Amino acid sequence: MSAASPAKKSTAAPAQVIPMAAALGAEVKCRDVRVLTDEDFQIVHRAALDHLVIVIRGQTLTDPELIAFGRRFGALDCAPLAKTGNEKARTHDEIVVVSNVMEDGRAIGVLRDAEVVWHSDNSYRDQPLSFSALYSLEVPDRGGNTGFANMYLALETLDPGLRQRIAGRTLKHDMTYNSAGDLRQGFTPVSDVRDAPGPSHPIVRTHTDTGYDALYLGRRPNAYINGLSVEQSEELLNVLWSHATQPEFTWHHVWRPGDILMWDNRCVMHHRDPFDAGARRIMHRVQCAGDRPAKSLEGKTGHPRSSMKI
Ligand code: OGA
Ligand code: MN
Repeated sequence: MSAASPAKKSTAAPAQVIPMAAALGAEVKCRDVRVLTDEDFQIVHRAALDHLVIVIRGQTLTDPELIAFGRRFGALDCAPLAKTGNEKARTHDEIVVVSNVMEDGRAIGVLRDAEVVWHSDNSYRDQPLSFSALYSLEVPDRGGNTGFANMYLALETLDPGLRQRIAGRTLKHDMTYNSAGDLRQGFTPVSDVRDAPGPSHPIVRTHTDTGYDALYLGRRPNAYINGLSVEQSEELLNVLWSHATQPEFTWHHVWRPGDILMWDNRCVMHHRDPFDAGARRIMHRVQCAGDRPAKSLEGKTGHPRSSMKI
């Protein structure tokens, strides 16, 4: 902190963290994020690592203010989007618009009104995102909820035999389709999962900030466990996916305008329910650059959130 901008001291009560009655998630009550003190920001950041996904309600942010908030979590990722067609999708280099709204015959954002399958953001890149944050401007009356699953817990509760089968293995993450099932521009449909384009990452990764191991599955369509036959890979992936997405491991957010929902792609998967095509849903998203997924020999199991009794 430079002398010109001393750390703000606040006399107000500190930010409050209220865990969701579920396997992950917390609401953080911290008033206006535009004037968050450094002390309160530390509470928000800690809550994101401890609860894996956080919601902060009642905000009114411009795009530059959303960008400034996101930057406090780390460098923002501005990589060009692998789009699927005639969508605009960015208002600033740092902002991705997630929306079904059409303007002048062109979608203003990505992902339409479709169901979005379980995934971890940008797992098809060498260095996937760490945090993603959606800020809601307009939400439908019903539908379009966003759900999360705790991947520390998925790993901890995995049958030891299955754990043995995935030990040291890597998974290939297909980049051909987005999570709404649309073909990305410049790609051709996949006929053999072994040939799908995309990087391989360890199935178990160690979170570099918490030190705990988590299951890292990315996306189900066209995934392939390297070194297995396609049949063996499909069978093992089906078992892993049904284990990882069981309702006991999940929590769903029901949106109101002015919500910031922030999640940690290194240890959660998320999905979205579909919603009425006639309804308007507009979210602006910022995302933090992450590191290359890796498994550390020192990786721990037993993340405290998994055993939290609430
Ligand atoms: C995303 C995403 C889900 C949603 O922006 O990465 O998956 O609820 N969005 O819109
Ligand atoms: Mn996503």
